[in-house]
Amino acid sequence: MNNVLELERVSRSYGRRGRAVHALYEVDVQVPEHSLTAVMGPSGSGKSTFLQCAAGLDRPTSGVVRLGGREISRMKERGLSRLRRTDIGFVFQSFNLLPALTVQQNVLLPLRLDGRRRDPARARELLARVGLDGREDARPGQLSGGQQQRVAIARALITEPAVVFADEPTGSLDQETGAEILNLLREAVDRQGATVVLVTHDPAVTARADRVLRLAHGRLVQDSGAGAGTRADAGAGAFAASRVTHAGAAAAAGGQVR
Ligand SMILES: Nc1ncnc2c1ncn2[C@@H]1O[C@H](COP(=O)(O)OP(=O)(O)OP(=O)(O)O)[C@@H](O)[C@H]1O
Ligand SMILES: [Mg+2]
Repeated sequence: MNNVLELERVSRSYGRRGRAVHALYEVDVQVPEHSLTAVMGPSGSGKSTFLQCAAGLDRPTSGVVRLGGREISRMKERGLSRLRRTDIGFVFQSFNLLPALTVQQNVLLPLRLDGRRRDPARARELLARVGLDGREDARPGQLSGGQQQRVAIARALITEPAVVFADEPTGSLDQETGAEILNLLREAVDRQGATVVLVTHDPAVTARADRVLRLAHGRLVQDSGAGAGTRADAGAGAFAASRVTHAGAAAAAGGQVR
């Protein structure tokens, strides 16, 4: 079983020495591919910091982060942004939709930024999956918080990334809609061979995770079922396979747009 994500003694602190806040402190985690990991912990325990360091959106103060076998904690910004465009989907706690774009344009944005062919049919299909068919032309400001969250999830999945990071992806949703979203993420793991790491406070979500990590004061205090529930028969190399698919898509689009 390959580990798609590895953190070794990862710390992230803010502020000056002596009075530094340790948002994350010496966290060691290995995440096997084709698994769904839930990260829990009280507010301020470091969950968002963990996710952002793991996804290469933030740099640890010390320690090593490897994604798909590559050390991203030392990667240059250029390589890092390419990796984020091609292999990573990220759902922000605050959604981060672009207000001037329509719902559909927001969902298609990662393809556009990566110079790939935009696939409006796929965007519509994903929007329907998150319960937003008919809202393609709305602007984020015309949607409820939960609807915006669902647009952010569709946007994170449009590139079929090898790894999806989601910061409380069901936090603004009712139970039923939350369950639908979880089905979608579970399917990305079980059918597409993706790896999902999500932050949640919801026991219904952790019940369907392969593994639960718990943070407190920036430290990993519990790691239940390391590797448990992951599919040994799913085979290795989803990360590599997905890179090939993306390369193919870029070629089909006639090369890079940027
Ligand atoms: N940019 C920053 N500057 C200073 N301190 C920060 C910064 N970002 C986060 N922190 C601190 O790091 C700690 C962890 O924050 P983080 O956002 O990771 O928590 P969290 O577990 O995601 O909380 P929540 O459940 O409320 O989203 C907190 O004490 C927070 O105040
Ligand atoms: Mg957070």
